[in-house]
Amino acid sequence: MKQAQRFFATGLSLITSTGPAGSDVMAAEWTMQVSYEPMLIAVFIHDGSSTLENIKRSRCFGVNVASEEQATLVSIAGGFSRKEVDKLGLDSLFTTYRTRSGLPMIKGCVVNAECLVHKIQRTGDHEMVIGRVYSIRHDEDKKPLIYHRNRYFGMCRPIEPERRKVRVSKGVFDAFSQQGQTKFITKATGVVVRSKNMILTSGPTDKAMKATIPFTHPKKGSDYKEELGIYLSNAGLKISIKGKPRMCRLLLQNNKRQQRLNIVLFDGTLQKNSIPVAWVSPATDSFLRHLLR
Ligand SMILES: Cc1cc2nc3c(=O)[nH]c(=O)nc-3n(C[C@H](O)[C@H](O)[C@H](O)COP(=O)(O)O)c2cc1C
Repeated sequence: MKQAQRFFATGLSLITSTGPAGSDVMAAEWTMQVSYEPMLIAVFIHDGSSTLENIKRSRCFGVNVASEEQATLVSIAGGFSRKEVDKLGLDSLFTTYRTRSGLPMIKGCVVNAECLVHKIQRTGDHEMVIGRVYSIRHDEDKKPLIYHRNRYFGMCRPIEPERRKVRVSKGVFDAFSQQGQTKFITKATGVVVRSKNMILTSGPTDKAMKATIPFTHPKKGSDYKEELGIYLSNAGLKISIKGKPRMCRLLLQNNKRQQRLNIVLFDGTLQKNSIPVAWVSPATDSFLRHLLR
C-alpha cells in the first residue's frame, strides 16, 4: 500500500493560517474543490500541525494553489513546522499579502482562495477541513505545480482523448447537432443493422436522416438502450437490439462547422413486420464507414 500511495498525481496547495501558533503556511497535496455552489474546498491535515491548531481556533484559512515556480516554497512549507521555524518570516522567501481579516496569503500562486471553516471531520488519520470560499482570485498566466511519486512536475502537454474526424453532409451535420447545437459535445445512441454489405438508414420517408443510421439524443441521465428502443418503436422501426454497445467518438466537420459527437452504437437485426427501410452501402459513405469500425 505504501508503494501504491505514491502513484497518485495531485496538485499542491500552500495552506495559510493565523492563530495561537502564529502566522503559518503548510504544504498540502490533499486539497481539492468538493462543491461548486456553495464553493467548498477540502483539505486533509494531520494532527499536531500548527496549521490545524490555528484553523480550529480562527475558523478560517487560505488555500493558495502553488504554481510551477513554487516547488521550493512548497518543499519548505511541507518540510518544517511553525513550531520549528516561522516559515513566513524567512528572509526573501514567501511574498505575502494580508486579507482584510488579517489572513496571510501567498503571492505568485495560480489560485488564492479565502475560506471560512464549513466543517471539520475526522477522516482516517487526518482531519478533513472543509472551507467555504468567500473570496477567490486566480492568475491566468500561472500553471499549477504537480506532485507524483514524491517529485514535483510542471504541467505536461495537453492530451486530447481520441476522436476521429469525419467530413459529413449538411444534412447529417444538422441532424446530429440540432438538439445539441449549443453543447460542447452531442451525445446520441443509434443502431447499426447490417445486411450483406449494406447498412440500414433511417428510412426513405425521413429525408434529413436518410444518410445516417437510426439514432436519437437520449435525455440526460436516462438509459441509452431503453431510449433507443422507445425511439425505434415510435418510428415504427421493428429492430431488435443485441450485444454489447460500442462507443464511437467523432468530430463531425461540415464546411467550417465542427461538432463533437459521442454515439453509443448497438447492433441490431430487422424484424419482418417493420416499416419500409432504406439500405446504403458504407463503401460509398465515409460517415457510415466510421460508424462500422
Ligand atoms: C509535498 C508535500 C505535500 C504535503 N501534503 C500534506 C497534506 O496533504 N496534508 C498534511 O497534513 N500534510 C501534508 N504535508 C506535510 C505538512 O506540510 C507538514 O507536516 C508541515 O510541516 C506542517 O506545517 P505546520 O506544522 O506549520 O502546520 C505535505 C508535505 C509536503 C512536502
